[in-house]
Amino acid sequence: MQEFDPHVLEEKPIPPPEEFSKKARIGSLDEYHKMYAAAQADPESFWGEQAKLLHWFEAPKKVLDWKPPHAKWFVGGKLNVSYNCVDRHLEKNANKPALMWEAEDGSTIQYTFAELHERVCQFANVLLTLGVKPGDCIAIYMPMIPELAIAMLASARVGAVHSVIFGGFSATAIADRVADCKAKILITADGGFRRGKIVPLKETADAAMKNCPTIEKCIVVRRTKEEVAWQEGRDLWWHELEEKASKENIAAPFDSEHPLYILYTSGTTGKPKGVLHTSAGYLLQCTWSTQLVFDLQEDDIYWCTADIGWVTGHSYVVYGPLSNGASVVMYEGAPDFPQKDRFWEIVDRYKVTIFYSSATAVRAFMAWGTEWINAHKLTSLRLLGTVGEPINPAAWKWYFEAIGKNRCPIVDTWWQTETGSILISPLPGATPTKPGSATLPLPGVIAKVVNMKGEPVGPGETGYLTIQKPWPSMLRTIYGDDERYAREYWTRIPGVYFAGDAAQCDKDGYIWVLGRVDDVIKVAGHRLSSMEIESVLVSHPAVAEAAVVARPDEIKGEAIVCFVALRVGHEPSKELRKELMDYVANTIGSIARPSDVRFTSLLPKTRSGKIMRRLLRELATKGAVTGDTTTLEDMAVIERLLKAQADDEE
Ligand code: WTA
Repeated sequence: MQEFDPHVLEEKPIPPPEEFSKKARIGSLDEYHKMYAAAQADPESFWGEQAKLLHWFEAPKKVLDWKPPHAKWFVGGKLNVSYNCVDRHLEKNANKPALMWEAEDGSTIQYTFAELHERVCQFANVLLTLGVKPGDCIAIYMPMIPELAIAMLASARVGAVHSVIFGGFSATAIADRVADCKAKILITADGGFRRGKIVPLKETADAAMKNCPTIEKCIVVRRTKEEVAWQEGRDLWWHELEEKASKENIAAPFDSEHPLYILYTSGTTGKPKGVLHTSAGYLLQCTWSTQLVFDLQEDDIYWCTADIGWVTGHSYVVYGPLSNGASVVMYEGAPDFPQKDRFWEIVDRYKVTIFYSSATAVRAFMAWGTEWINAHKLTSLRLLGTVGEPINPAAWKWYFEAIGKNRCPIVDTWWQTETGSILISPLPGATPTKPGSATLPLPGVIAKVVNMKGEPVGPGETGYLTIQKPWPSMLRTIYGDDERYAREYWTRIPGVYFAGDAAQCDKDGYIWVLGRVDDVIKVAGHRLSSMEIESVLVSHPAVAEAAVVARPDEIKGEAIVCFVALRVGHEPSKELRKELMDYVANTIGSIARPSDVRFTSLLPKTRSGKIMRRLLRELATKGAVTGDTTTLEDMAVIERLLKAQADDEE
């Protein structure tokens, strides 16, 4: 959890730049307050009105059907998500750039809306030819190439449910996710490029498919042209299928609550949970929040740097901006390839106006130094955004000055895989900002910081962040596990949505999100679970027990520290430490590589046998334990851990 210097909470708000407010969709705080009040007074009319932002084949009959904790939004409506993101722009904007893709090697491909439409229709026809039916699940494991967005839009077009698996995940992680959603088709590529090297995606997918009995077909995009293993009958080249497919496809209407996608995310147990999003409510709130939070205008060039494998990429690379008919920049590779100014070079070349990135990226740019920035003009930029973790005020200020040249408002956007879209954020032309705060909830969002009984805590006191009323893009359930959905989100604090974050609300009603209160670790904004890493560690033959905690990291926000007790016959060594780090990285993915593995003979536990992660967190962070240890079973354990650490440091 982030610790803020208390004086930060006293800091004076920075008003939105006047020039920006003049042209903004929402140009004053007054206007925001009015909109907020209207939404609060009558949420259903408010959302009913916003729903006009979408194209409907049949208008909804009822805005909300709320049987806690299950919501149905825009009941009776019929729409097609892919039609909304592509077809509806053809009349006015057929020749407007939709996707502007840049490969890591510098080559580019640009698709107008007409061209994107053609490819989405073709691939939708491919899926239909392969027998895909509405409701079937399609797993997607791809690099950041246009075909990834095309696959998602084509899946939505035929009513299939996509489950995108981040390209950095390993074979075991893929197999677990595919087994859970019972995907019939896996779409991948022969490989991808990262820092000039080839990432062998097909090879990893092949290893995963050994344990994926539900997969009938594997569609492979040719990206690297490297030779890959091939299973006749199962594996099919994307380009060969596409060549044979018709360019015409009529988008069929689907129900508002038709499932759109499942995205796996880490929670408090070892098993990742499949967050289920449905069609209309999700698309509506993505579309609406993209307009409001990014103040999207017709001629904007919009770049969200997130990988599509995470929710930010789903909502703010693909669905939100394309549904608005925006021109989207998409980049394949690493921010420091071939040099640390790659992003700024892209900003200047495409004349990017809206730049949305992560707090980790901002801290890395800051560490790399301004010489990488000063070589570029950055005059096209008019708005900056950040997401994924708390951004510390120093990084915020640096972003504002060095990248935004004191001219661009910053939107610090708070939301989650589960919320589907941004819920707390400044409106850039309206909300005065305070560095480090996501500021105020968007209209229609009732956010409160409360104690465990659900009572609001006072200004400056730490409590739990909750959302008090259902919202259109909320997750509908955890796929296949309604009970866990109800338990984790709606019963901890009865009747309201529990976000899992600690937060404070200051005297102006500004929300300061401090970090997770559960065992979710945020490494460079990527969400990982302590339990998931622990269960990998204990599956290693040398490990008897493991406890995993986060410690603060200057760039990545948090880093992973593992405490490991070895089985009899195994001795601590540098080699074993490295082996365990590799083992975690190979089983989950390199994003989960521990920063440190510490050996211990015992782990601190409560009398009931629960590992006391809080103590270990303190130990990993401060090198000492000061908190309450009264429930600790064996005090000597802490002594031993402290000693082991001292030995390590010698
Ligand atoms: C954290 C990412 C502080 C938070 C879209 C949340 C943030 C988790 C912010 C969700 C922010 C996200 N300030 N913390 N602006 N945005 N978080 O599911 O802990 O990958 O619960 O979704 O990220 O992570 P997820």
